[in-house]
Amino acid sequence: MLAIMGAMDEEIELLLADLQDREDLGFPGVTLHRGVLDGVPVLLTRGGIGKVNAALTTAYLLMQGASRVVFTGVAGGVHPDLKVGDIVVSTDCVQHDVDVTALGYDAGTVPGESPSWAADPALRAAAVTAARGVEGVHVVEGRVASGDQFIASASGVARLREAFGAACAEMEGAAVAQVCAKAGVPFVVIRSVSDTADTGANVDYREFMPRVARHAKQVVRGMLAGLPPAP
Ligand code: ADE
Repeated sequence: MLAIMGAMDEEIELLLADLQDREDLGFPGVTLHRGVLDGVPVLLTRGGIGKVNAALTTAYLLMQGASRVVFTGVAGGVHPDLKVGDIVVSTDCVQHDVDVTALGYDAGTVPGESPSWAADPALRAAAVTAARGVEGVHVVEGRVASGDQFIASASGVARLREAFGAACAEMEGAAVAQVCAKAGVPFVVIRSVSDTADTGANVDYREFMPRVARHAKQVVRGMLAGLPPAP
């Protein structure tokens, strides 16, 4: 089954409103909504903010039979081409806040784990096609950098570009990716840009987040129509 996950109400509420045959499954800290969206059986959920919530929710989704995971939400744009409203489709995800460099590991690498997690090519292709159908937005395929931090400085942006080659900054994608990778479950992260992660990002985020969250939702909707067969 396809799982669709967001971090916040604004990121899933427009999908939830259209979910048919809805059944709510309660777990500690999270509710999963099972139903049918545009004829496709799905699990839909708001996982909460940050990597711990994202990992926990992903584990629940996998236990309930998720065989593909699509994350939809907003991000701070880090790639210089990105403006508010544009869309990032993940090539891969990294955890920019992991630092075990004192023991000789590269920045972002959890000892014993992969330094990054690649998104599924078929889900990526479906997401890019759908994103290009959203009017007036630029689509960037790139690296999603996740951390339990809201990035709001030029130095933060520079670090994510230079140390990680990131396209955008958010707070969940790599946790979803890490859990999916352990289970061999394909994933993709789709983010619309609510701010550019530099000074003033907090103001832009508050102003634009609810509106641009719709773009990511439009991409998910578009993906459902052209989804490749499940592996
Ligand atoms: N989500 C949206 N904007 C963000 C930012 N600037 N940093 C981290 N997560 C975000």
